[in-house]
Amino acid sequence: MGLFSKDIKTMDDLFVHQLQDVYYAEKQILSALPKMIDKATNPSLKQGLQSHLNETETHVQRLEQVFEMHGAEIKTTKCPAINGIIEEANDVAGDVEDKQVLDAAIIASAQAVEHYEISRYGTLVAWAKQLGRADCAAVLEQTLREEKSADTKLTSLALGGVNRAAA
Ligand SMILES: [Fe+2]
Ligand SMILES: [Fe+2]
Repeated sequence: MGLFSKDIKTMDDLFVHQLQDVYYAEKQILSALPKMIDKATNPSLKQGLQSHLNETETHVQRLEQVFEMHGAEIKTTKCPAINGIIEEANDVAGDVEDKQVLDAAIIASAQAVEHYEISRYGTLVAWAKQLGRADCAAVLEQTLREEKSADTKLTSLALGGVNRAAA
């Protein structure tokens, strides 16, 4: 179903579509993160990605919870945007030989993923509130906070030495 598919008639349909999109994205991230953890060399980066992998499992569960709260079927809609971000991450990682440069590349890719999620969850929270679903918004906001904090930690790692080591 494309974004402007005729199946989306109301704001409610749009909200559910976006939930399905993010649900797909989180599942893709769940399968992409272990490869990034594997390739990362910096111990803090490895550990940070690992803890975000654990959080990502919770993100999937929270989305399932919101589908249920909203009385919508738990299903995915293919999200070409996240596939593109992950594909590019794999391409770049495959091209980098120097381990320290690879760490810098992994951080950049991971931040692209986080920024995507922050954008999607920000929209979902706003739409949930607009639809009078403050309860759904509260659940989605928990994930939004974790995405923002993952992004902040990645920035600290980059500025705290990974970029310098790579340069
Ligand atoms: Fe997430
Ligand atoms: Fe994330």
